[in-house]
Amino acid sequence: MHFFHLCIMMLCTACVMSKRFNLQVEDFKLNRHKVMQRSEASEPMNRTLLLFKNDVVRLQFCLQRNSFVRVEDLRYSNDGPSDEVSFILDGQYIGKHTTVVDTNFGRGWNSFHSTGAIGEGRLLPPGRHEINLTVTDSDIWGVEVDLVNIDVSDELLDYSHFLCVLYCFDDIKYEDILFPVKDSVPSARFVQNSSSTTCTEEDNVKIDIYHDTATDFMITANLPHYKSFSNQKAPNFAGCNLATPYWIFENVSVSPIRPEIQTSKALMTFSGSGYRVQIVINFSLDMLTPTRGVDDRIIGSVLRIRMPQTKDNIVSVNVLYNVRYKETNDGWNDLGQKDFTSEVSERTWNIPDKTWAYSGPNMIRLVVIPNKQDVVIESIRLDRRPTKDKQIPIYDDDSIIIEGLDLDFWYLAPQTMIINRMDNNRVFQDIDVLIIYSKIPWSEGYSQVFVIYQDGTTKLQPVTPHGLDWVPFGSSVIIGQTTISNGRPHASISRIDLDPQRQYIKLIFSDSSSCILRLETYYTQTKLLIKECIFKKDRHIHPLLTFISMWEADGNADVDHITVNGDRSRHIVSGWEQLYGTTAVFFRKCISKHNTLSPDIKIHILGKNETVL
Ligand SMILES: *[C@@H]1O[C@H](CO)[C@@H](O)[C@H](O)[C@H]1NC(C)=O
Ligand SMILES: *[C@@H]1O[C@H](CO)[C@@H](O)[C@H](O)[C@H]1NC(C)=O
Ligand SMILES: *[C@@H]1O[C@H](CO)[C@@H](O)[C@H](O)[C@H]1NC(C)=O
Ligand SMILES: *[C@@H]1O[C@H](CO)[C@@H](O)[C@H](O)[C@H]1NC(C)=O
Ligand SMILES: *[C@@H]1O[C@H](CO)[C@@H](O)[C@H](O)[C@H]1NC(C)=O
Ligand SMILES: *[C@@H]1O[C@H](CO)[C@@H](O)[C@H](O)[C@H]1NC(C)=O
Repeated sequence: MHFFHLCIMMLCTACVMSKRFNLQVEDFKLNRHKVMQRSEASEPMNRTLLLFKNDVVRLQFCLQRNSFVRVEDLRYSNDGPSDEVSFILDGQYIGKHTTVVDTNFGRGWNSFHSTGAIGEGRLLPPGRHEINLTVTDSDIWGVEVDLVNIDVSDELLDYSHFLCVLYCFDDIKYEDILFPVKDSVPSARFVQNSSSTTCTEEDNVKIDIYHDTATDFMITANLPHYKSFSNQKAPNFAGCNLATPYWIFENVSVSPIRPEIQTSKALMTFSGSGYRVQIVINFSLDMLTPTRGVDDRIIGSVLRIRMPQTKDNIVSVNVLYNVRYKETNDGWNDLGQKDFTSEVSERTWNIPDKTWAYSGPNMIRLVVIPNKQDVVIESIRLDRRPTKDKQIPIYDDDSIIIEGLDLDFWYLAPQTMIINRMDNNRVFQDIDVLIIYSKIPWSEGYSQVFVIYQDGTTKLQPVTPHGLDWVPFGSSVIIGQTTISNGRPHASISRIDLDPQRQYIKLIFSDSSSCILRLETYYTQTKLLIKECIFKKDRHIHPLLTFISMWEADGNADVDHITVNGDRSRHIVSGWEQLYGTTAVFFRKCISKHNTLSPDIKIHILGKNETVL
């Protein structure tokens, strides 16, 4: 066992890039500790902390992932006989150091020493940790500590996160009062299948929920348990690799003999003759982040070429461009020829949806007929095409509005939903999203409380709290047995039967599975009862529900913890593989700068005939 542990350690120091962090000890001082100014102490403040026997400094730090953590060094000074400094990490002793004897009539205080590494590295889970630096023995003059250097096997960890600038409530708990655990209901299996992300608009948290027999479920969305009155809701695309543009080249002088141009996203090569220059652009979409509803990798794109516009620049007029893309067995797809004139300095060519390969090379070929001029292209770029969705009113009364969306681009198209109004036999075709708005009790407005996409992705949320304009959705749950294509789980819905007055919603999936839904909205929570489900696929292979969310880092996440059956909460992405129980709550302990007020989600497996609404 010990040997095994050592192996991992060695492997990891070899393969994982680590990062060093300096903690200025004086930043962690208590009122009784004395700060000293020493010109040789570490910058920027050149300060130390003077400590005596039994003094403790609590150095707190935070991790974002499972990481090896090791104290690499303590920088200190001493004048007089030696002292002993011990290190305790999360309550466990890791090592100690006996300080050097330095009697130099006080000048020793400005002469600093290094202890070197203290103890061995330890693997720690994400979250808040504490190193207690304790003076276990000292002479009457004490010892001055300056800096603790810590090595963390996480090159992505940034300093502000390491210093725990985020705020986490340690005491947020979900003791399950509403749904006491019933022994009569067999446990569901919650399976971890999350990946990491640097893009907060990518749903990287994925937890599959399996059950052998269940047909009824309850999903509840509450305002977050933590208290925050900040309503951060703008998407944050920093860290995402987006398709606007897929690639761009600027100021390209066109010549058959010029060298190729390589950017991080594409390669442009030149050939042909002075009369017909051929340009080939090779690119791959491997790096794109699939964000939110739209998968940029398969949506159509627009090729845009701009020629210089200066008045006296007549050289680029009458240049002809022929654009082709994606060679198939039948040859290249030809988008035809366009020219530039003194009036037209920009031209676009549209490339249809689902053209590009998810991974591997994609190609666009241009033939430029320069007409005996020196041609410089001001810019040539490929972007995802713009989209315009269509709203379709389905129902409204004093308390709710039901609306359909026909998305311009839907990644599962031609799959789409039929909405069937049972009360008046009206049928709505081509619906990709169904949205229910609930009347806000204290205003004229309505707020979105329920959204379901054709792929089963469902979002819930309580009525917008008083005083706010709107609150973003966060986590979602895919209702229905999923299959995976192109890395995305979906449970395709073919039809929804709707009787708004009876509050009756029935989902019919394309594999003819079905579930009946009932939505209840209160101003503190929205509940969705899912009942009488009939599942057609193998329950051991296809989960019944899938929890989907985003976690980039504590403090930048739509969820950071899970508790099952009210047990000790676990971090959402690490430290567990499977959990068993009938109730799971997905919530945040750390105030998040992303979708700050998006709801906590509770999923409850109901027993046969269990009535809960
Ligand atoms: C810290 O010391 C450096 C050189 O030892 C000096 O340049 C700097 O001004 C000092 N800073 C403070 C805040 O005393
Ligand atoms: C660190 O020391 C403080 C004060 O002695 C103590 O309350 C705390 O529990 C210690 N923390 C750890 C992780 O040992
Ligand atoms: C987890 O997800 C990946 C793709 O994201 C998939 O290939 C794999 O089969 C999934 N594993 C399980 C156990 O569902
Ligand atoms: C292209 O040329 C224009 C005009 O000379 C200049 O403003 C721009 O910065 C250039 N772009 C690049 C990427 O060189
Ligand atoms: C561009 O991609 C094609 C198709 O994979 C490949 O045959 C060709 O060699 C590539 N061109 C360059 C210059 O890399
Ligand atoms: C559930 O209710 C139905 C009808 O109300 C009844 O026939 C059935 O026996 C009940 N099942 C259980 C497990 O109580």
